[in-house]
Amino acid sequence: MIKTYFATVARGLEEIAAKELELLGAKEIKTDFTGVHFQGNKELFYRVNLWSRIIFRVLVPIEEVNSYNATQLYKNVYKIDWSEYLQPHQTFLVNCTGGNQKLNHTHFTALQIKNAIVDQQRERFNTRSNIDLENPDIIINAHINNNYCTISLDSSGTSLHRRGYRSAMGLAPLKETLAAALLDLANWTPNIPFLDPMCGSGILPIEAALKGLNIAPGLYRNKFSFQNWLDFDQAMYEQIVNEAKNQQLSQLKAPIFGSDKDRNIIEQARNNVTACGLDHEIKLTQVQLKNIEAPTPEGIIICNPPYGKRIGNSEELGALYKLLGDVLKQRFKGWTAYILTGNKQLSKQIGLRTSRRIPIYNSSLPCTLLKYELY
Ligand SMILES: C[S@@+](CC[C@H](N)C(=O)[O-])C[C@H]1O[C@@H](n2cnc3c(N)ncnc32)[C@H](O)[C@@H]1O
Repeated sequence: MIKTYFATVARGLEEIAAKELELLGAKEIKTDFTGVHFQGNKELFYRVNLWSRIIFRVLVPIEEVNSYNATQLYKNVYKIDWSEYLQPHQTFLVNCTGGNQKLNHTHFTALQIKNAIVDQQRERFNTRSNIDLENPDIIINAHINNNYCTISLDSSGTSLHRRGYRSAMGLAPLKETLAAALLDLANWTPNIPFLDPMCGSGILPIEAALKGLNIAPGLYRNKFSFQNWLDFDQAMYEQIVNEAKNQQLSQLKAPIFGSDKDRNIIEQARNNVTACGLDHEIKLTQVQLKNIEAPTPEGIIICNPPYGKRIGNSEELGALYKLLGDVLKQRFKGWTAYILTGNKQLSKQIGLRTSRRIPIYNSSLPCTLLKYELY
């Protein structure tokens, strides 16, 4: 059965997520603010959860109800047959976004929905589901827009950027989904050598290697929420997982490098790389930027140097950005470099001409991905 889904994404990544969904086989794709609507069957949304590198979660809308105020919302949620989605022995959680004049506190709105669901269960079964904030069996998502509330089941569970391989944090790690999006925005393909000379916890080299080896990022996860659903098709899911395992490549087409000045941080990156089983694929070294040399005649660099709001002090950072520009210019002829930064002043210190500037958000920080052709 064909259904409409909603993939949530970070602000600014809607278009690139739409392209990814198209490649995964989604139809009727339409971008929205921090999300993408698409259509497909059950197999597709299992596949999207397992394979997407860029989206946060896949919501499956079940009903849109009038929700002018709390009473109307409660009554309309009560009318939905919740036994189709939630059994009293299962735990659940309601997440709410958006709002209107009368429903302007997401916690309060979520409480109305929760009350309607458990009241229906008590009425029918004389018992009710418990709430579990940490690890619920079923996650219900409610989005209020004007006087309507879209009620969806969250098929993913914890956000898909939590791949399951990152235990070590570095200083200010990129979300895995943003790292994967940067690789796409830089048009990096697996036949191009890749380097992050300030790799921190190693997220960019790891995401590049996962893509290069055609590894579905979802294979590292313990579970998706849809596995708790009453209509979960175990055989279909296992087939998709087995297919993904069979499609993995055993060798990268081009080398992937990561380096950082900090020994402890490189150790952390190494732990993350080991957690992915990629020790033989990613070459990690502890090296100061000032000592780095291009490992191949051409390739793509992507890095996010510290930019002040989160780490480092601005004078030192100015010198670091200048050094980065000098190193790129002198030692990386033939390469293309992309630098993600949230600080315009610092980026001027790089002193090279940008050939493209892509606006992007790193969590809530407005940033720019700067492109430099080095020749
Ligand atoms: C914002 S963090 C990068 C985070 C990384 N992208 C991740 O996802 O974990 C910046 C990194 O630059 C490194 N760094 C700062 N100055 C450096 C230098 N002179 N040479 C090499 N690495 C440096 C820091 O140790 C830090 O790990």
